Amino acid sequence: MTEPKITFADKKRKTVETAEFTEDGRYKRKVRSFVLRTGRLSEFQRQMMNDNWADYGLDYQTEPFDFSAIYGNQQPVIVEIGFGMGKSLVEMAEQNPDKNYLGIEVHTPGVGACLAYAIEKGVKNLRVICHDATEILRDCITDHSLGGLQLFFPDPWHKTKHHKRRIVQPYFVETVAKKLAPGGFIHFATDWENYAEHMLDVLQSLQSAVGIRNVSATGNFIPRPDFRPLTKFERRGQQLGHGVWDLYFVKN
Ligand SMILES: C[S@@+](CC[C@H](N)C(=O)[O-])C[C@H]1O[C@@H](n2cnc3c(N)ncnc32)[C@H](O)[C@@H]1O
Repeated sequence: MTEPKITFADKKRKTVETAEFTEDGRYKRKVRSFVLRTGRLSEFQRQMMNDNWADYGLDYQTEPFDFSAIYGNQQPVIVEIGFGMGKSLVEMAEQNPDKNYLGIEVHTPGVGACLAYAIEKGVKNLRVICHDATEILRDCITDHSLGGLQLFFPDPWHKTKHHKRRIVQPYFVETVAKKLAPGGFIHFATDWENYAEHMLDVLQSLQSAVGIRNVSATGNFIPRPDFRPLTKFERRGQQLGHGVWDLYFVKN
């Protein structure tokens, strides 16, 4: 029997985080906001990644990206973390040709599906990364360079003992705020009330320290905005009778 060929896309599945070591050489375990699902990467998704990475993909690097060189223009760059299968991200990129989009997702089938949809739609103002977004923010994005950051329906980590795995934590918001240009936005959405309250607490408590302000007329959440396309997880939540909470803050 011939061994299956290990392609670029297969290798990507194993390199979504950078290994870090303690001073005495032991692997440093980190609290991650994701679990790498072993879900099957279809032949089509694999091919999409292998054939289109040069045009659409960016890799983790230890120095900041040069957005003007990557997109060939000076338009604002909007980062989306955890785009899932990418449909809503591609729709946003298509609807906003005056902006550049950078999607970050660790789930390779989603990355392959997103590329396929971007190609089908002829979207050019989009790049994707298959790596832990917290490392990308920390190492690859220049301070004060982003037009916005969106995080739609992040894994809620329901159990209290898992709350430390939620991506929205004070350090995360401090990092995001540092990366935003003046006027840049933070847009979070969730269908899990307890996570929505946690997000609001973290954002409100850091408002003056990191120079952001809540645009909500009621001082908490904003009504669901029409410009946010329905995502796969949002639809699933709706079917389960969940509510939805949107938070929108702007950098001073
Ligand atoms: C609950 S799903 C939501 C997907 C999509 N936004 C939607 O609404 O349909 C959360 C996604 O975030 C991704 N994710 C979680 N932590 C991440 C991280 N640190 N970096 C990149 N992606 C992450 C997961 O792989 C997963 O696909």
